[in-house]
Amino acid sequence: PYPYYAQLRAGDPVYKTRFPDGQQGWLITGYEEAVEALKEPRFIKDFSKLYGGSMDGMSVFTQNMLFSDPPDHRRLRGLAQKAFTPRVIEGMKERIEEITDQLLDEMEQKKEINLIDDFAFPLPIIVICEILGVPSEDRDKFRIWSNSLIEGSSGEPGVSVYQHMNDFIRYLGEWFSRTRLETKDDLISKLIEAEEEGDRLTEKELYGLVTLLIIAGHETTVNLIGNTFLNLLKHPEQKELLRKKPELIGQAIEESLRFDGPVEFSTSRWAGENFQFAGKEISRGELVVVALNAANRDPDQFDDPEVFEISREKSPHLAFGTGIHHCLGAPLARLEGKIAIRRLLDRFPDLKLRIPESELKWRQGMIVRGVKEI
Ligand code: HEM
Repeated sequence: PYPYYAQLRAGDPVYKTRFPDGQQGWLITGYEEAVEALKEPRFIKDFSKLYGGSMDGMSVFTQNMLFSDPPDHRRLRGLAQKAFTPRVIEGMKERIEEITDQLLDEMEQKKEINLIDDFAFPLPIIVICEILGVPSEDRDKFRIWSNSLIEGSSGEPGVSVYQHMNDFIRYLGEWFSRTRLETKDDLISKLIEAEEEGDRLTEKELYGLVTLLIIAGHETTVNLIGNTFLNLLKHPEQKELLRKKPELIGQAIEESLRFDGPVEFSTSRWAGENFQFAGKEISRGELVVVALNAANRDPDQFDDPEVFEISREKSPHLAFGTGIHHCLGAPLARLEGKIAIRRLLDRFPDLKLRIPESELKWRQGMIVRGVKEI
């Protein structure tokens, strides 16, 4: 998509277009405009405020912080935030290293590996399942459900996305009933306790939060690991540099987030009123989407933006968004990314792609950027 983004950004960084799903709206590709849009309170997330409760059928997926505006947003984010502070996440380092090493041990037994299925996918899933308290043997089910939601298709003939959503909601209901009977230390048990004490999350909001975390845990870090690894393979001199200077791992992850971010587009926002934005007349109810990966290659913000350079310093990229919806899981994703790539390169310094790069299959849909297998 990058040449197309460059063309749009140079021509009109706030561009009126029709999205692949048929909706008309504004696509933002310039960095400055992207930051402004993500911080603009007149672009709202809660669609139902404009058009009534029309997202009701989807409420389990939308009643969460990502689809709400202040003051609800603060309450919904506040509860979960405690579980994701950089300090709490740093405390998980050893456990993440242990899981990583176990996966690498298993890979060592194989002649040919699929880096996505064998490594990049299971790592963040095991971690988020442990944080939440979900049995990790159910993780394949979660993969199918969240994939279905993100790609907007079940991937199975005769099965609708709604069928998967229903299965997912039923699973959550049964799981919460079980969790209520036990006292444990995981995030869900704590949230359920808080809910029972009164004023905190409603049952629907609890579903919404868990769904959001499961999807975030499934669909993003996988691609951070996959895209970083792919870019290192494509730029062998950068891979060598990282091997020689392992202390560059933090910068390498940031560069990968900038150069090939796992989340292609922000979630949707809607104009809550008529107003002027970046010289354009925006009408109440119009859709606005930020192309994060386009903004991250804006030459007005980054020197040589099309160059993958792991020693790049100061990279205020937007891969995790910005403003009040800035990614809650960023410290966790960064830590997982650093551990995964470092340990993978240490253990298998000479991994090579089995197929030509042009034959790699990219994931469908507008939201995630990542390959299906490596
Ligand atoms: C929000 C990216 C991993 C939880 C966001 C947003 C982006 C993003 C761009 C803002 C969307 C918008 O404003 O429209 C990423 C990337 C990740 C990642 C690139 C991995 C490399 C995670 C993980 C978790 C997580 C591992 C948690 C387990 C969340 C939550 C929000 C969010 C809860 C909503 C925050 C709010 O609305 O206040 N993420 N994410 N993310 N992310 Fe992530």
